[in-house]
Amino acid sequence: MSDRVSNEGTTRRTVLVTGAALLVVPGCSKYGDEGSDDVTLRPAPASPTQPTGEQSDGAQPPAGEVLGTTSEVPDGGGKVFKDQKVVVTQPTKGDFKAFTAVCTHQGCLVDKVENGTIDCPCHGSKFRITDGSVARGPAQRPLAAKQITVTGDQIRLT
Ligand code: FES
Repeated sequence: MSDRVSNEGTTRRTVLVTGAALLVVPGCSKYGDEGSDDVTLRPAPASPTQPTGEQSDGAQPPAGEVLGTTSEVPDGGGKVFKDQKVVVTQPTKGDFKAFTAVCTHQGCLVDKVENGTIDCPCHGSKFRITDGSVARGPAQRPLAAKQITVTGDQIRLT
């Protein structure tokens, strides 16, 4: 006699449902087909083809947050987007660059772009709008570049 306990009516088709959506793979079995045990249920994929905008595995960047428009960034100057802590510059017409707005000296936010530099109000550091490099200390390290895309007149963080 077997020690195995089996509930009456329970078959090998018993499936644990974990609360996730399940996907029945078509063609494996039909309802009422008692001759086959090949019922396959799989959790439905979260969203296999559409990015959620919250994940970034490097395969395909999300669309990104809109920072502003190109008309807000003067040719030969730049604009600080304080909420996003990003400064966007346009060293030459149509060439947009972006950097962190957090000063590498002691972490103040840079507050203006003037005369070819991104300026920090706390201790006077200046960074070049072309590449974020230090034009004047006390900061020793450049502003890190940020990735942006320009589509039409929209500037987005990526
Ligand atoms: Fe920017 Fe000191 S924090 S110059």
